[in-house]
Amino acid sequence: MRVIFIGPPGAGKGTQAQFICDKLHIPKISTGDMLRAEIEAGSKIGQAVHDLIAKGQLVDDKTVIELIKQRINSKDCDKGFLFDGFPRTVKQAEALEEARVKIDCVISLEVPDQTIIDRLSGRRIHLASGRVYHLQYNPPKIPKQDDFTGEPLVQREDDKEDVIRNRLKTFHQETEPLKEWYQARLGKSKGYFAVEGSGDIKEVQKKIETIIKIASPWGIGGGH
Ligand code: AP5
Repeated sequence: MRVIFIGPPGAGKGTQAQFICDKLHIPKISTGDMLRAEIEAGSKIGQAVHDLIAKGQLVDDKTVIELIKQRINSKDCDKGFLFDGFPRTVKQAEALEEARVKIDCVISLEVPDQTIIDRLSGRRIHLASGRVYHLQYNPPKIPKQDDFTGEPLVQREDDKEDVIRNRLKTFHQETEPLKEWYQARLGKSKGYFAVEGSGDIKEVQKKIETIIKIASPWGIGGGH
């Protein structure tokens, strides 16, 4: 099963990806997490992308496509994967198509801009795993600590209101055209699905699970 989540910053892609990947036993591939890991490691890529991310701009297509090509060649991707935050431009989607990476299902999480600002200001993350929490809507069991490792949670550098607004602008300009692109290729409610993402986390999860059951060759929890 190869799934893509499209959605504005803070739509809940990372949150929902955690649930779906656990159920389907496939890895979550988040280019945002991968790029933050490069920054944390102080690598050449990390140094080159730090300022762009901090300003809420996209990293260049070439860098991101290269990271993804390497990642999907790993053994854990043999049975599928979920892309969270990739592709983000039509050029990135075309690169997947050129590499003959077949996609089963694209899910667009639809959330209005006003809701995004509220969500992102309360978000906290566990840097090493990419696990996502919210102070109010999805709090950790022990305040300020990751549920699995007990390590400290942090606020992302790009979760400041002015940067969030830039990220939203970038989403509408660069990423939103992908919805039509995939709709034309996969068909509405066949391989491409739009999901209202502003309900509570469990409600959205149920909607996505129903879609995955329709689109998955095995079904959630099925043997593979
Ligand atoms: P990335 O890390 O991908 O950030 P993003 O797409 O902006 O998405 P977020 O991670 O902010 O949000 P999300 O939809 O995952 O929401 P979440 O589940 O955390 O990218 C960061 C940067 O890297 C980009 O700006 C760009 O510079 C660069 N980059 C990455 N990929 C790239 C690419 N392919 N090409 C070029 N550049 C790239 O939820 C948000 C909060 O809301 C959480 O606190 C959560 O607990 C809470 N929440 C979630 N769902 C609900 C709900 N239903 N109700 C209430 N609260 C909820």
